[in-house]
Amino acid sequence: MTHLGIIGGSGLTALAGLRVLRRQVEQTPWGEPSGPLVVGEFAGREIFFLPRHGQPHAIPPHMINYRANLWALKENGVRRVVAVNAVGGISAGLGQGTLMIPDQIIDYTWSRAHTFFESGLDQVTHADFTTPYSIEMRNLLISAATKLGLPVHTSGTYGATQGPRLETAAEITRMERDGCHVVGMTGMPEAALARELDVGYAAVCVVANRAAGKSPEPITMDLIRKNLDQGMKQTLQLLQAVIPLL
Ligand code: HPA
Repeated sequence: MTHLGIIGGSGLTALAGLRVLRRQVEQTPWGEPSGPLVVGEFAGREIFFLPRHGQPHAIPPHMINYRANLWALKENGVRRVVAVNAVGGISAGLGQGTLMIPDQIIDYTWSRAHTFFESGLDQVTHADFTTPYSIEMRNLLISAATKLGLPVHTSGTYGATQGPRLETAAEITRMERDGCHVVGMTGMPEAALARELDVGYAAVCVVANRAAGKSPEPITMDLIRKNLDQGMKQTLQLLQAVIPLL
């Protein structure tokens, strides 16, 4: 039996509408996931939900055990994942509360455990990451958004930063020059690890704030939380609408 996994980010530590059946504490060869896997019924299907920052929201982006999270999901039959990421909007069209389904990534993170292929190998392995997000999963999300009449940006490049501090204005200017449309701290190595495990992975990005230097407004946790509340309502609708399409 293959299942859908939903990895929640900031603003999505609990999945409204999920009828919880059980919580599974997992151990993996890579250590412990962010918390128990929450198995439940969502929009009529059994799914696995995992808040990557833990519940309560206490694990910062650079301390998340991304390997254990992906491994535990795969071990339980999860073959497709929708990840939800809070981001800062870099491009002009990406205001607070906007949803984007990215199609590319630039990785600026460092010193994170970012691969399963590091020791005890029969041979050196390189995963193809040309298209970092699953085309099938992206198309399903885009179809669901179209059916709902939900305005989403259907492509864009996610710049993954190390955090937990926010970026400088100069860093955002450089990222914009590089071609990034949004900035977040949790997109990598999660997407690459999913690829290494052959799990079909796509993301829904929710713009929590304008990126550093893009707005005169200071970026506060209050601002981020407030905007996420709004964006997450639409994300939830999108997640519910994608289930029947799977
Ligand atoms: N930068 C990085 N990560 C984020 C941001 C940001 O501006 N907003 C929400 N997550």
